[in-house]
Amino acid sequence: MREINNYMKITLAGLSRNEGLARMCAAAFVSQLDPTIEEISDIKAAVSEAVTNCIVHGYRDTIGDIDIRMKIMDGDTVYIKISDKGVGIDDIEQAMQPMFTTAPDGERAGLGFAVMQSFTDKLKVKSTPGKGTSVTMLKKLGRRG
Ligand SMILES: Nc1ncnc2c1ncn2[C@@H]1O[C@H](COP(=O)(O)OP(=O)(O)O)[C@@H](O)[C@H]1O
Ligand SMILES: [Mg+2]
Repeated sequence: MREINNYMKITLAGLSRNEGLARMCAAAFVSQLDPTIEEISDIKAAVSEAVTNCIVHGYRDTIGDIDIRMKIMDGDTVYIKISDKGVGIDDIEQAMQPMFTTAPDGERAGLGFAVMQSFTDKLKVKSTPGKGTSVTMLKKLGRRG
């Protein structure tokens, strides 16, 4: 069992103007671990991609809740779970393929999951079509020096 040292949960409206707020909340929460600039920007990038996906894919033309849960575990590991109650994903494996996108006419590059994967240590996606999607990420900090 992992030890939980701290946690937070926030709910944001799925509006693109809340993307910056989500990034800043995530950065502020992890600041207690004295992260490097690179660790902070990795976490912001991963959170940004996940939140953007809730807004543009999960809720498409509607507005719904985005729940962001974060924990500090074992003194050095950041847990991030971002969930929506939107349309869900039919085929998760396909959705996670680099360059796969269901929004090809936008500027979507199909690399959101690849970014989340490369900037964190562990990524898990759960989804039920018609019910929503959750993305859970783990990142261990403090590898400097
Ligand atoms: N929260 C979500 N709700 C519904 N579908 C999603 C969600 N997140 C991702 N997807 C699906 O996974 C695909 C790949 O996502 P991603 O790698 O971020 O690329 P992009 O967002 O550029 O399409 C999306 O095109 C979409 O079909
Ligand atoms: Mg995306």
